[in-house]
Amino acid sequence: MCYSNLRYSTALWEPASSLELLDILTMALANPDAFGPLDEYDERVHSHRLRDDEHQRTIVQSLQDLHDMLADYQAPQVVHPSIESLKPQSQSLFDSLFHRKPARKYTRIPPNLPKGLYMYGDVGSGKTMLMDMFYDTLPHNISSKTRVHFHNFMQDVHKRLHAMKMEHGTDLDAISYIAADLAEKGSVLCFDEFQCTDVADAMILRSLLEALMSHGVVLVTTSNRHPDDLYKNGIQRASFIPCINLLKTRLRVLNLDSTTDYRKIPRPPSGVYHHPLDKAATSHAERWFKFLGDVEKDPPHKATHQVWGRDIEVPRASGKAAMFTFGELIGRATGAADYLELMRSYDAFIITDVPGMTHRERDWARRFITFIDAVYESRAKLVLTTAVPLFQLFMSPEEIGEALDGGRLQGSVQHAEEHDGVDDVMRQMMDDLGMNMAMLKNSNLFTGDEERFAFSRALSRLSEMGSQDWVERGLGMEHRGGLNEKEGWQRVRSRWREDSL
Ligand SMILES: Nc1ncnc2c1ncn2[C@@H]1O[C@H](COP(=O)(O)OP(=O)(O)O)[C@@H](O)[C@H]1O
Ligand SMILES: [Mg+2]
Repeated sequence: MCYSNLRYSTALWEPASSLELLDILTMALANPDAFGPLDEYDERVHSHRLRDDEHQRTIVQSLQDLHDMLADYQAPQVVHPSIESLKPQSQSLFDSLFHRKPARKYTRIPPNLPKGLYMYGDVGSGKTMLMDMFYDTLPHNISSKTRVHFHNFMQDVHKRLHAMKMEHGTDLDAISYIAADLAEKGSVLCFDEFQCTDVADAMILRSLLEALMSHGVVLVTTSNRHPDDLYKNGIQRASFIPCINLLKTRLRVLNLDSTTDYRKIPRPPSGVYHHPLDKAATSHAERWFKFLGDVEKDPPHKATHQVWGRDIEVPRASGKAAMFTFGELIGRATGAADYLELMRSYDAFIITDVPGMTHRERDWARRFITFIDAVYESRAKLVLTTAVPLFQLFMSPEEIGEALDGGRLQGSVQHAEEHDGVDDVMRQMMDDLGMNMAMLKNSNLFTGDEERFAFSRALSRLSEMGSQDWVERGLGMEHRGGLNEKEGWQRVRSRWREDSL
């Protein structure tokens, strides 16, 4: 819906209730931090400045989630690198003979960094208005914030890069320096109209954004396209993919176009997997449950199914969707037979509070993998809220490091040499899980070969089940020519049910 072209008839609206307005204002005065984007939106709706839009509200809720997380967030003190530390280390003769680059230093993104937002949609869908609302109502502990038009921002960055290179030479890691400068200016950085049309931007964006995040900067952006569609057909697009993956994994991607909403219920705005287990995780799971279930005709209820005379409890079911916490599903002694029974009754599973599993929780990991396989093979949908990013689900970062070292010692990770050590391999792994399974297969997490295989396959299946194609399959996108596909999918599902009876 394009608001810039809309004329609203105020006669359709209820007069604002002055009591409600008073409530909002009194609350705001009593505790300024409690006043967030949601109150601001309500306030503007009540005072007829905005039309109440159900879809837009889901985005406002995400802004509110981030607002609440930021109210408890203390950005780390920015440790500014010195010019000296950003100069290349002297290389050994061997390194220079073989053109090996010196290891790049980088700070990790702090684990408590709240996930920023990436709002995209057509012109006039309200992106700028919502971002401004978020910016203007930021909690008071956020003492420094920056809001900037992305194009101007990039121009400024290029100017500074140029100046630094003129002064200190082209070998200097000037991006890290500039990122620290920017981080000192604001721990929340709002970009309007994020885009990438220029190879010069494409080449530096990932390092820049990652360096900002490593200093604890929370990014909120608007854009007119999905990250996957950025820099389409650009020169050397392949080297821009890691930047896209960074945006997709580190920001919640929200779509503002209500016209793409093919069901009456607002479509959940982000992908199916969410981490960490923060406030936004709860609304993520609820939204998907509402979307995939049928809460109007079949309000959420407990359900019981029977396998071999035993009962399997489903804590919340609605329509063809079932929702469990990880503990409820995996914590109990459940197994393949139980999962198959669940697949017969449901098309979609929302599993919340999935912990990271190390070798100590091997039993859980095994059972969860069996469950993932059952969901995958039955072509059902899976929504997860997890404590850690997917690639750390079955291994801690330390174990991944050790496993990769082990793999390298065995000579099985040849192409790791192309990168600058384990850290870069890990980044690469985040970029594309599928491409890096070979390394993980050599890990020492699972003892038997079969387990290694099951583990890597589970990760690649999770990544396939997170794709838009998988999620939208069978959801009746008729206006996009999806009817045949929907019927086909239903046939596959029912055949599968018969097969597995
Ligand atoms: N819910 C709404 N009700 C009324 N006007 C709206 C609403 N949402 C957005 N607008 C208005 O529509 C216009 C376009 O919004 P804007 O945020 O500039 O869109 P975008 O940045 O997505 O192009 C603005 O004037 C904005 O105030
Ligand atoms: Mg705009």
